[in-house]
Amino acid sequence: MKRTLFLIIVLLAMQMQSQNAMVIPPVLNGPQYPLNLQNGTYEFFAGHQTATMGVNGNILGPTLIMNEGDAVNIEVTNNLGQPTTIHWHGMHVSASNDGGPHTIIQPGTTWNPQFTVMNRAGTYWYHPHLDEFTDEHVTKGIAGMIIVHDNDELNAGLPVTYGIDDFPVVIQTKDFDNNYQVVNHSNNDDILMVNATINPYLEVPAQVVRLRFLNGSSQRVFNFGLSGNTPFYLIATDGGLLEAPEQLTRLPLSPGERAEILLDLNGKENQTLYLISYASEFGNGIYGATNPGMSPNMTLNNYNPNLLNGNDFNILELRVVAQTANPVTSIPGQFSPINYMTENSADQQRSFSLSPVAMGLNQLNGDFTINGVSFDMNTINISIPLNNTEVWTVTNNSAIAHPFHVHDIQFQILSINGNTNIPAYARGWHDTFLVPAGGGSIKFITKFEDFADDSIPYMYHCHMLNHEDGGMMGAFTVVDIAKVEDQKMTKGITLFPNPSNGTYMTVKLHNQSEKVFSYIIIDELGRMFYQNNFPITERNNLISFPIDKLAPGNYILKVYSDKRIYSIKFFKS
Ligand code: C2O
Ligand code: CU
Ligand code: CU
Repeated sequence: MKRTLFLIIVLLAMQMQSQNAMVIPPVLNGPQYPLNLQNGTYEFFAGHQTATMGVNGNILGPTLIMNEGDAVNIEVTNNLGQPTTIHWHGMHVSASNDGGPHTIIQPGTTWNPQFTVMNRAGTYWYHPHLDEFTDEHVTKGIAGMIIVHDNDELNAGLPVTYGIDDFPVVIQTKDFDNNYQVVNHSNNDDILMVNATINPYLEVPAQVVRLRFLNGSSQRVFNFGLSGNTPFYLIATDGGLLEAPEQLTRLPLSPGERAEILLDLNGKENQTLYLISYASEFGNGIYGATNPGMSPNMTLNNYNPNLLNGNDFNILELRVVAQTANPVTSIPGQFSPINYMTENSADQQRSFSLSPVAMGLNQLNGDFTINGVSFDMNTINISIPLNNTEVWTVTNNSAIAHPFHVHDIQFQILSINGNTNIPAYARGWHDTFLVPAGGGSIKFITKFEDFADDSIPYMYHCHMLNHEDGGMMGAFTVVDIAKVEDQKMTKGITLFPNPSNGTYMTVKLHNQSEKVFSYIIIDELGRMFYQNNFPITERNNLISFPIDKLAPGNYILKVYSDKRIYSIKFFKS
C-alpha cells in the first residue's frame, strides 16, 4: 500500500478521528439460508472501487443466526465464475456438510448442506476452502459470522440483541496495490478493517455490551486490550460459552479464532474507549510482532516497513451513548458447564510437527508441511476410529507461530510448551490455537463423535491462509469400524492371499488404469498399523503391503485409489 495514504490513516487514528460508522452485516435467520456467492466492487477508500467477492452483497456475508437443535437448510449458489467451497468453521457437522476442499461448488451450481445445529452458544464463521485458493477467496471478501444461541445462554441473561447490545466484530488486515485492488498472499497487510470498514467507530450503549471477535485475517495475530487498560470479561472462546466470565486486560487472537467479551459501560455515557491491539507486547516469532521470525535476520518478504508490526494500534473506537430500554446492567456470573477431559481418558496419542524440521533463515516463507508432507487432495493422512478420544501434540519446529485448526471437533488445551498451567483464555473449547515458534508446542484433547464417513475427509491445518494454501494441511477421515462390511472380493478389488500367515498381502484393482494412492490397516480396536502414501511413480493398480508385524487376528485394509475408497476385512493367521 502507498505509505502516504497509510500514514494519513494512522495519523487520523492517533488523532482519534475515526470517521466511518462500523458496518453491521445483515442477518439471516433460519431455518432456510439462501447464500449467493458473487463478484462485486466495494468502496473501501472514498472514490475508489475495489474488485471484491461477497455473499448476498459485495463484501463479507450476512450473519447466520441459528439455535442449538435447529435443522438448518443452506443453499449456496456459486456465481463467482470459478469453483470454490464454503466451510462452516467450528461447526460440528458431517464431513459431507463440512464444505472442505473436497466439496467443490462448481460455478453456476448450488450446494445444499443440511444439518442439525449441535454446537454450544457461540460465534462460528464460514469461508471458502478451495485447495490453493482459500486465501484469495477470503481476502477478496468472502467470510461471514455464524451466531449460535442456546438455552444456557438465554438463562444466563447475556446480551443477545444483534446490533444493539451484541455486536459482530470481524477484524481483517489487507494489502492494497496502487490501483486500490486487494493483493493476495501478501505480507504487506497494512490496512486494518472491521466488518470491511476502515477507520471505524461504533456507538455502544452505556450498559453491558457483548463484542464477538473474529480474526478473519489471512495471517495477522492481534493482542486485544482496551484503552486505559480497562478490564473486560471473556465469556466465550471458539467453541462457545465458558463456564463463567474471566476478567482480563489482554486477549491474543490468531487467524481463524473467535472470542466474545463483555464490556461494562454502565455510567460511561459520552465517554470514548478504544479497542487496541497491543502488538508491541508480542515477542519475536509471531506475525504481528516487530520480527515475524525468532531473530531479526529471519525475514518475511515485504513484511517491513509496516506500522502495524510491533506497534500498538487502534482497532475500533467505541463511543458510549445512552442506555437502551431493558439493558443488561450487570455481568452474569454463570453460563454453561464444561466437562473437562483428562489425558488418561485418551484412546490414542498423535504427534504433529509443523515444518520445516530444521530451522533455517528462509523458513518463514515455506516449505509448508505437516509431519514432513504437503497437503494432497488424494491422500487421507489419518484415519480415526469413530468415538476415539485423542490427545494431539502439535510441535512447531519453525521460527514463526502457526495457528493450528481442526475441523469437526472442538478441543481442550492440556498444555502449552509443556506447561499445564495455561492462561485463562486457553481454557474452554477451541478449534484453532496458536502454536508458539521455535520448538513450542500445544497439547490438546478431543473426541471424534457423531459423524463418520469413509470417503470425505475433514481437514487439520495452519489457519494462516497462505500457509494452508501452500500445503500446511492434512486430511483425516473418521471411520465407523463396526460398519465396514466384509468385502473379500467385491466391486473391483481382490485381496490375496486371504487369510494369510505370510509376510505380504497383495491388492489388485481390476481396472488397470485405476491407481492406488495410499492404504491403511486398522485392527478391531481401531488402532492403525501400517500407513503408506505412494509417491506418484509408485502408484499402480497392484500393490503389496507387509503384514509380518501383525499379530494373528482380524484387520481392515482401506485402499484409497484415484476413483474411490475400498474397505476389506482380512485375517492374519
Ligand atoms: Cu477456517 Cu479449514 O478452516
Ligand atoms: Cu474449519
Ligand atoms: Cu502457518
